[in-house]
Amino acid sequence: MSKSRESRLEELQDLEPSLEEFRLEVIQGLSQSQKTLPCKFLYDRRGSEIFDRICDLPEYYPTRTELHILQRHAGDIAASLGPEVRLVEFGSGAGTKIRLLLTALDRPAAYLPVDISRDHLVAANADLARSFPDLSIAPVCADYTEPFALPELAGARYRTTAGFFPGSTIGNFTRAEAVGFLSAARNLLGDGAVMVVGVDLVKDLDVLLAAYDDKAGVTAAFNLNLLRRINRELAGSFDLSHFRHEARWNAELERIEMHLVSLRDQEVAVGTRRFRFREGETIHTESSHKYRLDGFHELAREAGFDPIEVWTDERKLFSVHALRARQETTPS
Ligand SMILES: C[S@@+](CC[C@H](N)C(=O)[O-])C[C@H]1O[C@@H](n2cnc3c(N)ncnc32)[C@H](O)[C@@H]1O
Repeated sequence: MSKSRESRLEELQDLEPSLEEFRLEVIQGLSQSQKTLPCKFLYDRRGSEIFDRICDLPEYYPTRTELHILQRHAGDIAASLGPEVRLVEFGSGAGTKIRLLLTALDRPAAYLPVDISRDHLVAANADLARSFPDLSIAPVCADYTEPFALPELAGARYRTTAGFFPGSTIGNFTRAEAVGFLSAARNLLGDGAVMVVGVDLVKDLDVLLAAYDDKAGVTAAFNLNLLRRINRELAGSFDLSHFRHEARWNAELERIEMHLVSLRDQEVAVGTRRFRFREGETIHTESSHKYRLDGFHELAREAGFDPIEVWTDERKLFSVHALRARQETTPS
């Protein structure tokens, strides 16, 4: 791994899922009785650009509310991470939120952004390296639900390793998956590591539904882009005008679900495979679980973390949690 001359930005560690992995997951998802597609594939280059536009929508309260919390409590959050930290960000996206943390941190030693959306990751970190020329940055393109190793950073001296997982992306997992993800993150970061996690909260249904089905149709374009991606990369034959976006509240599981609803009986090809759709049948493309503070603390404890602090906005729309990885007790 070599460094670029102008900055301390390391070359990308590229573990992007292969086309074959994408194909297998799409075929598996479309073969189920409730058809599904994994939400991680919503983020190709175009999907990431559309997501950035979602973040600016008036209806999409999570981004601006989390930014407000991070701005207001940046000093406390930075203090919980400590000086000379090596910071791993899961699902780093446009890298807007990390700027607030990096500015508040005491001599951050290294930043390791992990994201599945390769081109977006490269562009975001080229920008970040220009803003923080003394910071060692080592981007990793990977699916963070699969095991991966953190890149070695020659010359970067750090005291501790910490995690940052904003955007309520943890809500995309089922509860069991979220426990599994945090347990794996705990093993990756090590005993005593602090993990800062943004978690969206249960709230009025009108506010929730509008956030996932905006008037301008940007979220609809984000959802439908997955079909466009399948057409382009996997020789699919989806006609986008034969599907529509829908956001639903699943009261039992306290989650918003995004679906693509088939507008007619139709057959669609993905390469050599064919899939039948009845009119009204849906593909479930994303879940966004909403939490209560106690419920999330319980989940974190199950994954081996002790909650140390939580910050919220005045309206209790969103929460940012600092969790500490419990010391592993060795059996005597
Ligand atoms: C909801 S967006 C949040 C982006 C940003 N962290 C924020 O707070 O605005 C989710 C981000 O996680 C990335 N992502 C989603 N699933 C992933 C996976 N399985 N592995 C790695 N990155 C993933 C996406 O590419 C996207 O950048």
